[in-house]
Formats: sequence, C-alpha cells, structure tokens
Amino acid sequence: MKILVTGGAGFIGSHYVRSLLQGRFPGGEGAEVTVLDKLTYAGNLANLDPVKDDPRLRVVVGDIVDAETVDPLVDWADHVVHFAAETHVDRSLQAAGEFIQTDVFGTFVLLEAARRAPRLRRFIQISTDEVYGSVPEGASVETDELRPRNPYSASKAAADRLAYSYWASYQVPVIVTRASNNYGPNQFPEKVIPLFITNLIEGHTVPLYGDGLNVRDWLHVDDHCRAVDMVIERGIEGEVYNIGGGNEVRNVDLTHRLLELLGAGSDMIQPVADRVGHDRRYALDTSKLRRLGWEPEVAFDEGLARTVAWYRENGWWWRPIKEQDPAFRAYYDAQYGSRTR
Ligand code: NAD
Ligand code: TYD
Repeated sequence: MKILVTGGAGFIGSHYVRSLLQGRFPGGEGAEVTVLDKLTYAGNLANLDPVKDDPRLRVVVGDIVDAETVDPLVDWADHVVHFAAETHVDRSLQAAGEFIQTDVFGTFVLLEAARRAPRLRRFIQISTDEVYGSVPEGASVETDELRPRNPYSASKAAADRLAYSYWASYQVPVIVTRASNNYGPNQFPEKVIPLFITNLIEGHTVPLYGDGLNVRDWLHVDDHCRAVDMVIERGIEGEVYNIGGGNEVRNVDLTHRLLELLGAGSDMIQPVADRVGHDRRYALDTSKLRRLGWEPEVAFDEGLARTVAWYRENGWWWRPIKEQDPAFRAYYDAQYGSRTR
C-alpha cells in the first residue's frame, strides 16, 4: 500500500507516519510512505527521527500549491492522507493569506491531481471540528451546517467542501474527517497545551484568554491516527466522519490540571485579553465513527500526564524553538505583548 502523507513532518502527520511504519495499526501492513511537507515553522524533520532510516519512507520537501511537485506523488499513491495546513487560529487572526494559499488552494492542487491519478483508492481530507463554529449546546453531527468564524476554520471549511465537491462531481474517492483538538508529544509549543506545559517548565506564567470558560474536546493524537486508519479501511466515499475524544474540558480546568501536574500554583495563571471571535465551545457526536468500530482509548488524565512527561524529558525538541528561534520570540511578542490586562 502506497500512502502519500502531506504535512507528515507536523504534529499529527508525523505521528501518523510513525504509526504506519511501526505497524501498530491495521492499515500499516506493508505500507510505503511518502511525506510531502514544506517544513514551515510547524514542520520538523526531527518528528520523524524514529523512522528516518526506514527504507519504506521517502520525504519530499515541497509545497502542496506546486502542481509539478504534487502531480507525480499523487499519481504514485494508493491513498492520500492530507494533513498539510496552516493550523493556528491565532496566526490566522494575525495574517490569513497563507491559510487561504495552503489550506484552500493547496487542497485544490491536490484534488486536481487526484482527479487524474490512476490508482487512487482514498483521499482523506483531514478537516476539523472548528468548521462547525461555536456550539452552545448539544454536539455537532456530520450533516450540521458549517459556520466557521475565524480565518483558519473558514479556510478549512472551504477545503472540506471543495474535497466533497470533487467526490460529487468527479468521483474522486474523498472521505472527510473532522477531528477535535488534538494533544500529545511533538505539538508545536504555541498551541495551548504544549505552550502552557513548557512555560511552566521554564518558570513562566501561562496566558489564559478571557474568562477561561471556553470548552474544547481533547483527543489524543494516537486515537486520531487510529481513527484515520479506520476510515481508510471501513469509511464510505463521499462521507464525513467526526473524530472526538469525548473529553470536554473548560480551559480554566485544563489549566489547573496542568498546574497540578507541574507542581505550580494558580498564581502562575496570567489572565490576558480574549481572542477575537473566540469560539465558546466545540463538541462532536462521534456515533457515526463508532459504528465503524472505533473508540478513543487514551483516558484524558493519563494522556495529559504522559504528554507532560514527554515535554519534561524532551527539552532538546522544544527548547531550541522557544529559547533560540527569533521567529518564535517575534510571534510570542506579537501575540501576547499587548494583551496583558
Ligand atoms: P501542524 O501545524 O503541526 O503541521 C502542519 C504541517 O503541514 C507542517 O509540517 C507544515 O510544514 C506542513 N505544511 C504547511 N503548509 C504546507 C504547504 N503549503 N505544503 C506542504 N506542507 C505544508 O498541524 P497539525 O496540528 O499536525 O494538524 C494537521 C492537520 O490536522 C491540519 O490539516 C489541521 O487542520 C488538522 N487538525 C488539527 C487539529 C489539532 O488539534 N492540531 C484538530 C483537528 C484537525
Ligand atoms: P488552541 O490550542 O489555539 O486551539 P484552538 O483555538 O484551535 O481550539 O487553543 C485552545 C484553547 O485554548 C482555545 O479556547 C484558546 C485557548 N488559549 C488560551 O487560553 N491561551 C493561549 O495562549 C492559547 C494559545 C490558547
């Protein structure tokens, strides 16, 4: 089985590639994997260190908007699993251009290649629960209206429906997945969980937005990877599958759990001005995916404790980013400098 993984040097993509090559998941049987990744600030080849010498892995450094790069790789593939994207809401609120370029136009380039690909059996469009917008009560089902409310989620919604249109119009074998917030090792340390863990390890405060009552449903990255495999094996073309961890937690409660795990007091919480248009709550109904036979396996408390342990033990991975990269410092200053209340 030949699998093209876009964004395979990022957080979730690299876990997925490792899971395929380490054969932990059923879909990993005899996999040959090509990673296509631009290595943006969020891409890191060190994420693939455990499999870097595996002869079944090929890494192509390139941009998904570039058809000359994309076309032969999609031609080669039995399956495309499309993770590559600009992914951070806060960055999309600072500057949205790259989100439109990569998340929308890049997906279009991949889909055009998929239309012509001779052997393609699956095109998995990795979408997000954020396309539903804020969910005041209940849980989103796959047929709900999409109401994205920030440039990131709007660009992902565009890609999600564009992929669907290539199934409806041209029979490209598209399946869309919409996962909730992921956590685990190797997540770039600007997303809330790794940012708060590493800030606390460094002895810095953690910037909690607004009243801290926003709710996210946390999904361990390994459970996400198993769900993607399940969808490749048992999903139906043209369908959408929600993937949620079933761990709805308010940001303030998440913060207190992290403080406890890291032995810090609540004086380390730095309240800061809220994110503009901050979605209050995401929640997913995952019964459709569960009917295929998937359920999350990682309990949140255990997954969070393991994630904290990973960041404690792997300073070599995140300290150079946070402590030496001027681009990270510039991002942090732009994001948080003027927000302190
Ligand atoms: P990430 O930001 O950690 O990684 C993104 C990867 O894509 C990086 O390796 C980056 O170099 C690569 N990339 C970016 N632009 C590219 C381009 N133009 N061409 C080629 N490669 C490019 O993201 P992640 O958290 O691993 O998310 C992966 C996917 O999962 C995204 O599509 C995201 O929308 C989706 N998703 C993420 C979450 C989450 O909580 N992290 C939840 C649901 C869905
Ligand atoms: P984030 O990790 O950016 O994911 P998303 O916005 O895609 O859900 O943020 C998760 C939640 O944490 C979100 O409600 C915003 C909040 N948050 C903070 O309170 N402080 C921070 O510094 C960050 C990055 C996020």
